[in-house]
Amino acid sequence: HSHEESILECLYSQNYNTTISQVTFTPINSSYDSILQFSIKNSRFNTSASPKPVLIVTPYSIPQIQTTILCSKKHKFQIRIRSGGHDYEGLSYTSPDQNSSFLLLDLIRFRNISIDLAQQTAWIQPAVTTGELYYRIAEKSSILAFPSGICPTVGLGGQISGGGWGTLLRKYGLAADNVLDATVIDAKGRILNRASMGEDLFWAIRGGGGNTFGIVIAWKIKLVPVPATVTACTVTRTLEQNATEIVHRWQYVVDKLPNDVFFMVVLNSVANPVQANATTIQASFNSLYLGGIEGLIPMMDAKFPDLGLRRENCVEMSWAGFPLNSPLESLLDRTISATGSAKFKGKSDYVKEPIPISGFEGIWEKLKEVGVQTGGLILASYGGKMSEIPESSIPFPHRAGLRGLYEYMTPYVSKNPREAYANYRDLDIGRNGGGGEGDYRRARSWGSSYYKNNFDRLVRVKTAVDPANFFRNEQSIPPLSSWR
Ligand code: FDA
Repeated sequence: HSHEESILECLYSQNYNTTISQVTFTPINSSYDSILQFSIKNSRFNTSASPKPVLIVTPYSIPQIQTTILCSKKHKFQIRIRSGGHDYEGLSYTSPDQNSSFLLLDLIRFRNISIDLAQQTAWIQPAVTTGELYYRIAEKSSILAFPSGICPTVGLGGQISGGGWGTLLRKYGLAADNVLDATVIDAKGRILNRASMGEDLFWAIRGGGGNTFGIVIAWKIKLVPVPATVTACTVTRTLEQNATEIVHRWQYVVDKLPNDVFFMVVLNSVANPVQANATTIQASFNSLYLGGIEGLIPMMDAKFPDLGLRRENCVEMSWAGFPLNSPLESLLDRTISATGSAKFKGKSDYVKEPIPISGFEGIWEKLKEVGVQTGGLILASYGGKMSEIPESSIPFPHRAGLRGLYEYMTPYVSKNPREAYANYRDLDIGRNGGGGEGDYRRARSWGSSYYKNNFDRLVRVKTAVDPANFFRNEQSIPPLSSWR
């Protein structure tokens, strides 16, 4: 018997659960490739050389998940859990280790949304995307929303597990700050809710990263009020139009704006519109204001006159319409991708003090080296509600500051540790050993970047709920005595 045959036999022999064979796929099955590729959101990991799962299970019932856990444990299979497939390093469906052997538990069929308007809450399953959720809320109410991410195809299984920031973060905090309850299946196959899992595990799953503590099969979330009309504005400025001074100034203004304003800047190298065969830097100032245009323009004139915001830079829309400004139905399209077919690598930093003009001039040089339309830098401001929530409230610790060419940025960003956002996974900052076996000391270096002082509590929760390290990957939190 091969390793693969043994686990298949185990899966199929659970006689209370004969249906699992219908949702189990091995590489010889004709649907294997399409199921695998459907939720690969980074073509860097969609190559023939990318390690692939030995088998894929796409459960539609809880017993199928429990059977998968039981058989994976019995036959010592590593499992990877996938909801939306946006993991920056592809850890939900591949591995950086060529000889890695794993099973993919693809939650793609767990996509229910059930909204309770009276209570202003919803139960959502993990493969629901942010776009699907925003659409279903908007269908029922134009004055409710949920403070999760901006890209509509991201899965809420992964996103809430790592935090989840978007246009409402200054008003209401992160997605994970707005979770009321959850259903989790743990390494023993038990079905837990907030009361039965206890507050430590409930704390850990809201920002402590996916694929570490258990399988989240539902979140109960709190919906938040928004006005029926919001205003989205975009102003672009090149270096020739004083972009450097305006971006520099933005840093001093942005966190003092009312919490009703979300405001980020996207910096790219572009072809110079006024000089042939030359490049320049374009700063795109994107904002969303929770209110009508009449309220926004005078406020921005008073607080940020250097930007020169005009009515024609702005469009009024419903909250769910941002940033697409296209039919709301496009929120339901899981196949569109913000990164297109690009091979994508992302990194994140936290800026604690404003970057000086000279710093931006160096950043422009680095962006020009990266090339026209091939890479960029996004600056997003926290502040507002984010500064009011204690760093230990959930595992996500980065509450104050700005978010932002990595080596170059070193003097301008956080130090000891150099911080990073767990949902922007970056294996360059460190990883567990082959097969996801981690030791505490190694993991502490990258773990502190993501979680700062919350790392040790995450290790304690992991040690209590999954001491054998069943749920693991190259950046899962290790228990104190790891799997051998
Ligand atoms: P995926 O399925 O790849 O899961 C990510 C991680 O969570 C993996 O480790 C996986 O094993 C684990 N996991 C998934 N489902 C789980 C479950 N049910 N139970 C336990 N573990 C589970 N972030 C943000 O905050 N705001 C934003 O606006 C954006 N925008 C954005 C755009 C684009 C194009 C990308 C590629 C990414 C973002 N992100 C983001 C980052 C995003 O929040 C992050 O990649 C999420 O972890 C992705 O969740 P998925 O379910 O899609 O990914």
